[in-house]
Amino acid sequence: MNIQLARLVLSLLAGLAAHPASAGDDRAVDRGRYLVSIAGCNDCHTDGYIETDGKVPEPRWLTGSAVGFSGPWGVSYPANLRLVAAKLDEPGWLARVRQGGLPPMPWPSLRAMSEADLVAIYRYLRHLGAAGEPAPQAVAPGQPIATPHFVFVPQPPQPLKTGALAR
Ligand code: HEC
Repeated sequence: MNIQLARLVLSLLAGLAAHPASAGDDRAVDRGRYLVSIAGCNDCHTDGYIETDGKVPEPRWLTGSAVGFSGPWGVSYPANLRLVAAKLDEPGWLARVRQGGLPPMPWPSLRAMSEADLVAIYRYLRHLGAAGEPAPQAVAPGQPIATPHFVFVPQPPQPLKTGALAR
């Protein structure tokens, strides 16, 4: 083996020792980004995402929202997932997502994900890192609501008034 090749091999080995899981981690992060993008997590957990047709820069993704969803369950707020993941280790994250919670969070979809996919989302959130403020606490039914909120309750049909039809 010539000396240059030996140096190259040594530096590659040193790199592997310093980041033993880096290739696998990168793959999980990329898969997490992909899953989050196709599963609509930003629709609720990123302010302005729906309104701008997804044109929110990635550094702001999944930092939660203080615009609540009001329904028979009270008011729920899309959590700041970056702060949630920052506080949990991997088993803690898996336990949290399997525990479930209030609507309209699509808990059944999360429960249907494979463990590998849930871990990939966790790795992606950790890769983005902690940012932003925690979302407000959920509000119990019948309590005052201090924030803007969507009313997630079916409204009765609103037939056209007779006058509006006469043309
Ligand atoms: C329709 C809106 C909506 C969508 C879409 C959505 N979420 Fe949520 N999510 C919420 C709301 C609202 C809460 C708060 C629920 C509660 O208080 O129990 C929440 C809570 C959570 C929590 C619990 C956080 C905590 O505080 O412990 C996790 C984890 C989570 N969402 C992950 C996801 C992931 C991953 C996706 C994409 C696959 C997603 N959510 C898509 C609305 C949504």
